[in-house]
Amino acid sequence: MFYSDDLIEEVRSRNDIVDVVSGYVRLQRKGNSYFGLCPFHSEKSASFSVSREKQMYYCFGCGAGGNVYTFLMEYEHYTFPEAVKALEERAGFALPDQEESEEDKRRQSLKSRVMELNKEAAKYFYYQLRAPGGAHAMNYLKGRGLSDETIQRFGLGYANKYSDDLYRYLKGKQVPDELLAQSGLMQVNEKRGMYDKFWNRVIFPIMDANSRVIGFGGRVMGDGKPKYLNSPETVAFDKSRNLYGLNFARTARGKYLLVCEGYMDVISLHQAGFTNAVASLGTALTAQHAGLIRRYTQEVILTYDSDEAGMRAALRAIPILAEAGVNARVLNMKPYKDPDEFIKALGASEFQKRIDDAQNSFLFETDMLQTAYDMNDPNGKTAFYRAVAEKLTGFEQELERENYLEAVAARYHVRAESLRKLVNSVALGSINRRVAQPQTQRLQRKEQEPGILKSQKLLLTWLIEFPALYAGVKKYITCEDFTGDLYRNVARLLFAQYDAGEHVPAKILDSFTDPEEQSRVAALFHSNLEVETEEEREKAFRETLQKIVAHSLDERRAGLDPADIQGLQRLLTEQKKLKEIAGENFVFH
Ligand code: GTP
Ligand code: MN
Repeated sequence: MFYSDDLIEEVRSRNDIVDVVSGYVRLQRKGNSYFGLCPFHSEKSASFSVSREKQMYYCFGCGAGGNVYTFLMEYEHYTFPEAVKALEERAGFALPDQEESEEDKRRQSLKSRVMELNKEAAKYFYYQLRAPGGAHAMNYLKGRGLSDETIQRFGLGYANKYSDDLYRYLKGKQVPDELLAQSGLMQVNEKRGMYDKFWNRVIFPIMDANSRVIGFGGRVMGDGKPKYLNSPETVAFDKSRNLYGLNFARTARGKYLLVCEGYMDVISLHQAGFTNAVASLGTALTAQHAGLIRRYTQEVILTYDSDEAGMRAALRAIPILAEAGVNARVLNMKPYKDPDEFIKALGASEFQKRIDDAQNSFLFETDMLQTAYDMNDPNGKTAFYRAVAEKLTGFEQELERENYLEAVAARYHVRAESLRKLVNSVALGSINRRVAQPQTQRLQRKEQEPGILKSQKLLLTWLIEFPALYAGVKKYITCEDFTGDLYRNVARLLFAQYDAGEHVPAKILDSFTDPEEQSRVAALFHSNLEVETEEEREKAFRETLQKIVAHSLDERRAGLDPADIQGLQRLLTEQKKLKEIAGENFVFH
């Protein structure tokens, strides 16, 4: 279901955030806000605040923040549409007819028809597995150690050896060819026409996080090729955004998720009690997968195959997960190939030990790095230490860097002091390189950014806290003067609200779908402007505004064609703004 912006806003405004959050967290009123223990990290004193006025929450401890939708998405692990639906029901009103585009409607309806069809096919496969003709498929699954209960739970099935019986079955139910063609269940070929994609295979229905069948995997029973056949991407099946087993793992509420490679691995792990296992669907882990994972946990144990391909896949997954804010550890499966084989051989408690011993991702990376160097050759050894030193410079915090340095030194038998010197010289080398290079404009600008971004953030916080300021600020600044993408977008939305005479901060959050961005925006709305006196406040505000205007002018000057005299004139005129700001009387209330 796609919801229009108006409807999203309507539903949001009918669900007071304090009331909704109170259903989950005990809140106490303190001044203008309500405080409680943060449900998103463990704490003893209340730093989780909810504002009725702003219709937002923010945790001063862990930085989680958002509006009523974000809250349900984080707490209940709802998708956005699920959160809208839940709140719509809570408010007890029926959705008015949507103004969706024709294209959206068509796509949505196709998607739900394909999922209906998938359900029908899953039932058919399920029945075939249990029919007399499915006995050898059932034997195959039992032979792989799966219990009746497991086979049931994962809805496993069997596509029998006729390559057109699912087609005929579905035709018997009046399903049009056109829909069949889009479902991924059929293959079309000029000579044969339309026929089943899956036959003579055991079938693994693939479900999304809400347990709807979105596609299938089929395995040969024995050594044939290809070993697995998977549904093609369809309107309902996007491999890069779904994880096998997530419909169960999402409710496991463990501290971490186990991420493995195959369907059979997930199923074996669940059967052995590790119900927090998921697998990507025969593809490498994507940034979308990582984002999906981050909705449920901040820690992952990679349980990829122990062969070289598996190790390389782990190396690739680590930075992708880190980028999404998920920390990874790597489980050592040796001497077994994959979780399925490991558990069959050594059982669940040994596997749990391997989980407990799973290796820190940095050390896993350096171990892998080491294999590229000849450690018997002094040159090779030095080159390896240098490479490690280079990696260590990636830690910005000294304490963290120092901890890793010591761990690495002990691990690879090098004196911490020598390694520390190497790290310093590597770091110095990169600084010198930077100084020696002609400073390009881009580099300069990049280095200036953090300070100016802070000012932009501060200005936005002020404008949100004191809407009356907007009238005075409007003549000096537009949203284009904000150089950070996020802040420019917030400025655009905020200024549009103020121009329309509105003040609904929570609505602005709806424009940001990424949880990371939502938290950053929520932080904007909850920053503390610590100033002592009114004069101090005015002075600080004025300086912030000047800084932003000056920076914006600099940027425009840098981008100006030297022959553009008019442009230069315009800039000189605008330069006067800086002086005017100094003389302006800004009204806060
Ligand atoms: P088993 O041999 O049944 O234990 O398989 P596995 O789960 O150990 O699978 P494997 O490690 O060989 O492969 C991992 C995943 O990659 C599978 O679950 C499939 O999703 C995918 N895959 C494996 N083989 C093929 C193949 O031949 N074709 C395609 N398209 N995908 C495959
Ligand atoms: Mn296997």
